[in-house]
Amino acid sequence: MTYVLETERLGKQFAGVPALSGVDFRLAPGTIHALIGHNGAGKSTLVKVLTGVHPAGSYDGEIKLDGQTMRFGSPAQARANGISYVPQEIQVVEQLTVAENVYVGQTGLARGPLVSFRELRRRAAELLARLDVPLDPSTPVGALSATQRQLVMIARALATDPRVLILDEPTASLAGRETDRLFGVLNRLRETGVTMIFITHRIPEVMRMCDRATVLRDGRSVAELERAAFNERDIVAAMVGRRIEALYPRRESVPGEEEVLRLEHVSVPHPARAHDVVRDVSFRARRGEILGIAGVVGSGRTELLSAIYGRLPHSGTICVEGRERKLRGPADARRAGIAMLTEDRKGSGLLFNFALRENVTIGNLGGIARWGVVDRRAEGRAAQGFVQSLQIKAPSASADVAHLSGGNQQKILLARVLMNAPKVMLLDEPTKGVDVETRQEIYRLIIELADRGVTLLVVSSEIVELVGICDRCLVLADGAVVDEFARGEGSEARVIEATTTAAPPVGEVLA
Ligand SMILES: Nc1ncnc2c1ncn2[C@@H]1O[C@H](COP(=O)(O)OP(=O)(O)OP(=O)(O)O)[C@@H](O)[C@H]1O
Ligand SMILES: [Mg+2]
Repeated sequence: MTYVLETERLGKQFAGVPALSGVDFRLAPGTIHALIGHNGAGKSTLVKVLTGVHPAGSYDGEIKLDGQTMRFGSPAQARANGISYVPQEIQVVEQLTVAENVYVGQTGLARGPLVSFRELRRRAAELLARLDVPLDPSTPVGALSATQRQLVMIARALATDPRVLILDEPTASLAGRETDRLFGVLNRLRETGVTMIFITHRIPEVMRMCDRATVLRDGRSVAELERAAFNERDIVAAMVGRRIEALYPRRESVPGEEEVLRLEHVSVPHPARAHDVVRDVSFRARRGEILGIAGVVGSGRTELLSAIYGRLPHSGTICVEGRERKLRGPADARRAGIAMLTEDRKGSGLLFNFALRENVTIGNLGGIARWGVVDRRAEGRAAQGFVQSLQIKAPSASADVAHLSGGNQQKILLARVLMNAPKVMLLDEPTKGVDVETRQEIYRLIIELADRGVTLLVVSSEIVELVGICDRCLVLADGAVVDEFARGEGSEARVIEATTTAAPPVGEVLA
């Protein structure tokens, strides 16, 4: 068989450290090919070589397209040869509209020196309709959620009508319904002959969508599987190099009785429209309790956390340890002992071009300063402790975070929040883009923090995860609490039932 895309003995090093070694990768025509492996395994690096981000000359070995050796000098060259790429990190220009972001960098549309904006909008609308995305092409991207931005990036990749579409963790920030929608699009593309490489950490997605799979481990290809041989346990075993037992660690202790966080009738108005995105939410959370918040993207879960963190104006009352707090900004929240880990790595203050150490310790200076002086040694030790327990894979504590893999960047943000030893911790998608082993590590940390008396609010798109680790779980739909259950009482089916029976009108889900 002639493969569409193929690599031979592909090797890639960064400053002498191998990220890929001797990788033979084969992409069969008309398939969706899963590329899986733990954080730092080399998945993004492989696709960056295939798409000219790492240009010819910066890697060893060969890339073949339809059996012919190619030497891409840039992503534009790869695109011109029909290979399109949706990177792991969202890259949009906030000031531009959806349409402009979809066609950014494309000159083919220009007639004379000017691009016809009407034409841009028309084509973008067509593409978005193909993607089944209810977005107005003239909306500025700055007003969109992370999910919507993701969809804009996928539309951009499709704008060149590629033969090969490469998606680097496209589902990491999507919840059930959005993922279904995306999978519908990918299935249709496959039917029209588009070949795809699909990177994910979610094995059920591989089982559901993919025809073949390659497992990378430490920069080497350790397994190439056909659909008939797909088996969840084998895939995980190939990824981690051994079998792992239960994914969800057991919580032995129980939360305390004392109330730490109380919300009374909290509502958050929509920034532009007349309705509320969080509607009359009331609950109490106890010391050391792990409280899950389930709901689809757009159900108000992120907005609820943002309100508690003082980022969004809200009505109603928020009390910490029985005392009402006026939370007008994150500084107020931090003073009240509330910390937050957000889902958007780039937007939420990972300092690119700063070392890992600084990224962990920033914002925490108060915690380690003694008599107003920052104790650098203590700071370094504390940071090092988290780097170790979270298994952050980096050459050293002074490595630039821009060069770390996506999952490792997520771990750094988590370490930063942990350094503050807060009373209440808000975690938005803490395991987004994180591999199975690290996931377990994060679950263990969540439980350990709860055991130490921290109250945790966890938002996740993965319902089984919430059911697995939370003491109690609230289900949000359309901004309101529609169900609540305690550990042992919940299930994925129950959450889906609660969210779908209370489903908001179509078209509002993404709004
Ligand atoms: N530009 C770079 N400079 C230096 N090192 C890099 C660079 N890009 C990647 N690396 C290193 O190469 C290795 C592989 O990284 P890569 O991003 O390919 O992992 P990944 O499999 O995509 O992981 P994740 O699931 O976390 O996204 C990591 O150790 C990473 O730190
Ligand atoms: Mg990656």
